[in-house]
Amino acid sequence: MNKIPVWIDTDTGVDDAVALVTASTLEELEIVGVSAVAGNTSLENAFRNARDVLSLVGRKDIRVYPGADRPLIIEGRTAAYVHGNNGLGGAEIPLSDAPQETKKAWDALYETAQQYKGELIVCPIGPLTNIAIAIANHPDIVDCIKELNIMGGALIGGNITPCAEFNILCDPQAAEAVFRSGIRINMFGLDVTHKAFLNDDDIDEIISYGNMVSDLFRDSNHLLYEYRAQLHWEGICEHDSCPILYIAHPDWFEGQECGIYVETQGTISFGKTVSDLWTDYKYEDRHCKAFLNVDRVKFTERIKEAYRSF
Ligand code: BDR
Ligand code: CA
Repeated sequence: MNKIPVWIDTDTGVDDAVALVTASTLEELEIVGVSAVAGNTSLENAFRNARDVLSLVGRKDIRVYPGADRPLIIEGRTAAYVHGNNGLGGAEIPLSDAPQETKKAWDALYETAQQYKGELIVCPIGPLTNIAIAIANHPDIVDCIKELNIMGGALIGGNITPCAEFNILCDPQAAEAVFRSGIRINMFGLDVTHKAFLNDDDIDEIISYGNMVSDLFRDSNHLLYEYRAQLHWEGICEHDSCPILYIAHPDWFEGQECGIYVETQGTISFGKTVSDLWTDYKYEDRHCKAFLNVDRVKFTERIKEAYRSF
């Protein structure tokens, strides 16, 4: 089987870890690199967590590169109330003994994109700072990347402000540069990721596997359980697994072509992903697909299969 080359850019928090675990078990994918960025947690934590999670799932061979420790222009923010002080809800796993990469994320991504000659799919599942820097420093990268499968944004609503989703709100100027770059974008925003949740039965089943990887799931998700209970949600959203599982199973997801740009000037709308999907006015340059729906059962079954396999 010809594997699809994939790069994952992550701010390694709790649902990022689920996405890395799941990605590591998808035989359709070849994970050719991972980069870390500040977001859910500090760059230091995100870098360490990505390395340690990959080591836990037996993939020390995947190289992890350090990226930006803060947004391009605005002050950084984290989400310790959901992802804990270490990004993994306080869960502790063995430290990876893989050699530490020092090359910067944007340079490593550029070199890899050149190597794969327009075939590389990049999945940013944190703030878009590293991707924006890669585009600024290496403008021809836009022709080397096949598509960006982004977890971020929302056509309707937000989760941090009424208009903005966390990853975009963390670094709206970076997000705007990425959405303007012309690279083909598949956007997995809250419109779809709020439908991609593990319910209580799914969670119990994963915990019941009792292996080291499902123990990490149990120990890292407890703040999310509390957060979710406060909001009366039906389950835990696996935002970051959406763009990853889409690569292997595009038929599980529904989306629509549109143009999307990011509001960087507004006060109450700061960080909003603004789409022309439902309006008479259409942007001239429309190179995005916004995902709106997912087959939740198939999606969650595949995540459970990943955890069962360890
Ligand atoms: C996104 O923000 C983070 O909390 C998650 O890891 C996900 O990438 C959801 O808004
Ligand atoms: Ca994330």
